Amino acid sequence: MTNMNAPLANRGNDVNTIEERVNTLLTQMTLAEKIGQMSQLNAGDGYAPDYLADGLRAGRIGAVLNIVDVAAVNELQRIAMEESRLGIPLLVGRDVIHGFKAVAPIPLGQAATWNPNLVREAAHVAAIEAAASGINWTFAPMIDISRDPRWGRIAESLGEDVFLASRLAVAMVEGFQGEDLSATGSIAACAKHFAGYGAAESGRDYATTDIPESELRNVYLRPFNAAVDAGVATLMTSFSDLNGVPATGNEFLLRQVLREEWCFDGFVVSDWDSIRQLQIHGLTENDRESAYEAATAGVDMEMAGDAYSGHLAELVEAGRISIGSIDTAVANILRAKFRLGLFENAFTKPEELPAVANGWALETAKQAATQSVVMLRNEHNVLPLAAAELNSIAVIGPLADAPYQQLGTWVFDGDVELSVTPLQALRSLVGDAADVRYVRAMENSRSRASEAFDEAVAAARDSDVTILFLGEESILSGEAHSRADINLPGDQAELVRRIRETGKPVVAVIQAGRPLTLTNIVDQVDALLFAWHPGAMGGPAIADLLFGIESPSGKLPVSFPRMVGQIPIYYNQKNTGKPPSWDNIAHIDDIDTRAPQTSLGMSAFHLDAGFTPLFAFGHGLSYTQFEYRHIRMSANELKPGDEVTVSVDVCNTGGVAAEEVVQLYVRDPVASVTRPVKELKGFQRVHVEPGETVTVDFRLHTDDLSFYGRDGQLVTEPGEFHVWAGGSSETQLRTEFRLESR
Ligand code: BGC
Repeated sequence: MTNMNAPLANRGNDVNTIEERVNTLLTQMTLAEKIGQMSQLNAGDGYAPDYLADGLRAGRIGAVLNIVDVAAVNELQRIAMEESRLGIPLLVGRDVIHGFKAVAPIPLGQAATWNPNLVREAAHVAAIEAAASGINWTFAPMIDISRDPRWGRIAESLGEDVFLASRLAVAMVEGFQGEDLSATGSIAACAKHFAGYGAAESGRDYATTDIPESELRNVYLRPFNAAVDAGVATLMTSFSDLNGVPATGNEFLLRQVLREEWCFDGFVVSDWDSIRQLQIHGLTENDRESAYEAATAGVDMEMAGDAYSGHLAELVEAGRISIGSIDTAVANILRAKFRLGLFENAFTKPEELPAVANGWALETAKQAATQSVVMLRNEHNVLPLAAAELNSIAVIGPLADAPYQQLGTWVFDGDVELSVTPLQALRSLVGDAADVRYVRAMENSRSRASEAFDEAVAAARDSDVTILFLGEESILSGEAHSRADINLPGDQAELVRRIRETGKPVVAVIQAGRPLTLTNIVDQVDALLFAWHPGAMGGPAIADLLFGIESPSGKLPVSFPRMVGQIPIYYNQKNTGKPPSWDNIAHIDDIDTRAPQTSLGMSAFHLDAGFTPLFAFGHGLSYTQFEYRHIRMSANELKPGDEVTVSVDVCNTGGVAAEEVVQLYVRDPVASVTRPVKELKGFQRVHVEPGETVTVDFRLHTDDLSFYGRDGQLVTEPGEFHVWAGGSSETQLRTEFRLESR
């Protein structure tokens, strides 16, 4: 039994007690104090500045963001706890996106590991490091499905696929929040941006999104549903307009879907000033109406704006917003504070936490970087390099020795001193065995000056192999950094062409925050590693891969188009009524000017780009070969509610031990709403020794076949299904089963 007379701080932390404590506290709060809890302020720089201290004393602030000095945070908590009337502790938010001090690969790179355990671990490291600075809430994971590599924020996403993004979203939530949100080192996660942000028109950040409800439910909302089921503490709304109602004022999303259908009991925060932006969108006339729309729609807390603090009180007094709905919002926020254990434990003692950037943190970052690198090409097995056979290596390019750039976007707190660049790592790996000749060749990835190319060509000509480090600096992706042209920027393609002319083996390692169109360089290099922005330990990870200490095992979490005009191109597209195949397409170069209309192949393709991506979702090569054999199911006739096992044998027919990501795809060929040509339904990363055959089993439940039908309800429809297993979405190894109606 809870002793209601005991001070708040001495009561237990179970669910009932939390609800009692929330309700007790609510009865003691004034309207102004309630609105205070609904307001998050940017703390910016400085040590507990007066405006913050005064606001806290008066109960006008429930949360801050962007303060990372632990002494300052503790002082703010002290003021909130000891000098405000009710002593409610503060939420301290920060964008801890892919590491804190020890930066791991960008989230899109982490997605390329297809390794939920590693992704969970990386989030756990980040949480512990951030917690040591007093942070108790991260604005991550970002789980917007994105099929558009022009969008700069694809770097922060988990890629194009619902299943992969959902699995990794859950892993990140678990990593940040730990098993017990109130434990030291656990921080609240925030699934963002709810919802549809990744579908911005033409990949232009903040642009409009128009997503039909069935697409919204079957694709964009699913990772959020998974995060909610995994217990994510908070959600952030999107900046974007969704079907005419900006997400921050979208009652369908925030009330119907999130609260009524998913029963979410955490809280929703706006994005940065996105409540006031409802006016700029053209939804409201002024800040008061914006506050009205957002609060009515279900935004519990306003980030970095003053629409709530300025207008909620008058809206309540005018009877337009009920005190009941204010209480609901405040209860959602207080519940999160209780769950975090802040009332008992608001102060941060860094000495109780592991040291930041310790061996575990750096090793996790390195493993994630190693597993994130995707080998896209390896002609004549030019990789791995054999140290014993090399006398000289030319290391060329603007990203060979760029410690800050390899960290990627959103690294507010990342320690660039921890970065080990590819050049440094190669030098220390090779030692005296070979001469490493470094020519930067370009000031940055966008440079148009080619004066240094001669020196680079000379170094390449005099070396046994050239490793080109190309790509994009971190500033070319991330928020508000979208590109319309996603070729390698600047004169990099020309640099590749010049190096190619030497006739020496050329390996390209690309670091970038998004898929690039590599059509113009892919045939000019013998091997190609795509390393995303690999984080602090990118250098050692890449060096190990180049020399075969590790075999590449990353797989693409997003399709790579041949040309930007193919976008959106993604593996789980619909079949259309005229699906393309190699037999029914024409190429622009082969068309007779008087060719009759119907001779061109009447199917869904581009005359100049065909219908396939340059590299498909799930693709990634290894230093060994894997053969997939004998796909089978424990039963081929299923009834609703059944669970079956799909098995496949994976044989390592090459010469080295390696890890492989085995993927399971399903197709529902006939349904009341047309379904994609393939959908990922399972994946496993397995280690296979040379000559060994591993049997991989996937559990498949008939619920996994469900989709949102015409009426917006989840259905599983009987009929034939196709199942594939393999090493990419292009796998052809298939079996079938039938789902009976009962
Ligand atoms: C971004 C959010 C981020 C917030 C706080 C916004 O501009 O869209 O993702 O969490 O800023 O920094």
